[in-house]
Amino acid sequence: MTDTQTRPAWQALLAHADQLKLSHLRELFAEHPSRFKDFSLGQGELLLDFSKQRITRETLDLLHNLAQASQVENWLKRMVNGEAINHTEQRAVLHMALRAPLDYALPLQGESTQPEIHHTLDRMRDFCQSIHAGQWLGYDGAPITDVVNIGIGGSDLGPRMAVRALAAHQQPDLRVHFVSNIDGADLAPLLARLNPRTTLFLVVSKTFSTQETLANARSARAWLLAHAPDDSAVARHFVAVSTNLKATAAFGIAGENVFQFRDWVGGRFSLWSPVGLSIALAIGFHNFEALLAGAHAMDQHFLEAPARENLPLTLALLDVWNTNCIGAYSHGIFPYCQSLEFFPAYLQQLEMESTGKSVNREGEPMAYKSCPIIWGSTGTNGQHSFFQLLHQGGQPIPSDFILLRNSDFPLPGHHAQLLANGLAQSAALAFGQTAEEARAGGIPEHLVPYRTFPGNQPSTTLLLERLTPQTLGQLLALYEHKVFCQGVLWNVNAFDQWGVELGKQMANALLPSLSGESCPAHLDASTRGLLQALQ
Ligand code: F6P
Repeated sequence: MTDTQTRPAWQALLAHADQLKLSHLRELFAEHPSRFKDFSLGQGELLLDFSKQRITRETLDLLHNLAQASQVENWLKRMVNGEAINHTEQRAVLHMALRAPLDYALPLQGESTQPEIHHTLDRMRDFCQSIHAGQWLGYDGAPITDVVNIGIGGSDLGPRMAVRALAAHQQPDLRVHFVSNIDGADLAPLLARLNPRTTLFLVVSKTFSTQETLANARSARAWLLAHAPDDSAVARHFVAVSTNLKATAAFGIAGENVFQFRDWVGGRFSLWSPVGLSIALAIGFHNFEALLAGAHAMDQHFLEAPARENLPLTLALLDVWNTNCIGAYSHGIFPYCQSLEFFPAYLQQLEMESTGKSVNREGEPMAYKSCPIIWGSTGTNGQHSFFQLLHQGGQPIPSDFILLRNSDFPLPGHHAQLLANGLAQSAALAFGQTAEEARAGGIPEHLVPYRTFPGNQPSTTLLLERLTPQTLGQLLALYEHKVFCQGVLWNVNAFDQWGVELGKQMANALLPSLSGESCPAHLDASTRGLLQALQ
């Protein structure tokens, strides 16, 4: 059993954790006044302050030893060289190519990926231009006013998050909507307020076999054809984004209305591909190109920066430290930026679908934890819901705070208050308040136990200059590469997702029972009882 944690680098780290876990962040800051300078890094317009993590210089040394022992750099070369590092699906992992310039050499089995990628980008540009210029007309000659992205998982979360994040760059002439859930409550209310003459549907599905997406696409098509004169309207109101041209044709979407991408683009890494068409329509193609450029800048940083200055690697090592050495089981994502309200949900798929595994690359059970539970919400809202538990719940919960130096929607006095809260919360979580300090603050003795805060909650603060397509691209690529490094450090394949298959198969087996047929014989008593209650 090649249990990764038997390696000397892991053993040294675990031994160090035993010794360090008795230290409080208060002491670590007192002993190391230059922590902020020593434990912060920059890339472009992004500052990463990890000084409130429960680490010392020795911790970082041991973490980087682990990175070397895990051969992170070698795995990175294998990814860039187009090797099938997603070994259970025999696929390369080349989402970086999607945002690289035409002349960038990313060989995939010897051929360059770039000409096809840039041809597709040219098609996307022309398509966006035709929509925004009112040249693309609906079945009775009206220009498009509303676009509906029908997709789920990576075909929804990234584009939805990015369109919301870049609301300040929203094109005035077009509204972009997202439908993902099979629950009619997602699609029906939206259709009720749309005009079939001026609505365009993007059916986004890498496999074009995802039940929720196909059901929503069929219902949208039925809605359109209930108003349009004949089936020819489908060609004016449906575009598909997929790797599966056979299935898109079978659905009735003509080839010229399909934007194809390759299977070496993972769903949760795909918003840079035509899956991001809704983003380009929402913010304009030139802004979509800025998003790609921001991600490419982070790619270059990831490929070139020395390990000690490497932001994605640093974040990955800190997560390993918190998960495997501090024993934290969850990780909070707190953007102090309302435009990033969907960022935690996007990260849930990116991280938990990538490294939420307990079988290693060799197919052996892992004797150690991997991805923590990723959760979160925007600040200051979280302060009025779950921060109580963070402050006084008694369990270690690391978190990432994301702050903007400049607001994307400034109002007099608002941004200063937002920033003050973000800084205060990460400090309060780190340093807490002792009983003596509570007394000194005039708290009556009988309330002191309730008014002390243990602190010692680790956090990292990411400071962006402002939220633009470029800085959002940097931020997203930062987390994508963090996940890549975690996959190497935890020795898991971060690019397959077999865990989602069992539930899908069981749902398909139950469907007939919910359409009046008898229950399958082999059912467990609970499902049988519930089905009977439903029938
Ligand atoms: O959740 C499983 C999954 O396969 C994700 O990995 C993927 O992003 C999502 O379903 C949607 O898949 P598709 O884009 O093929 O419809």
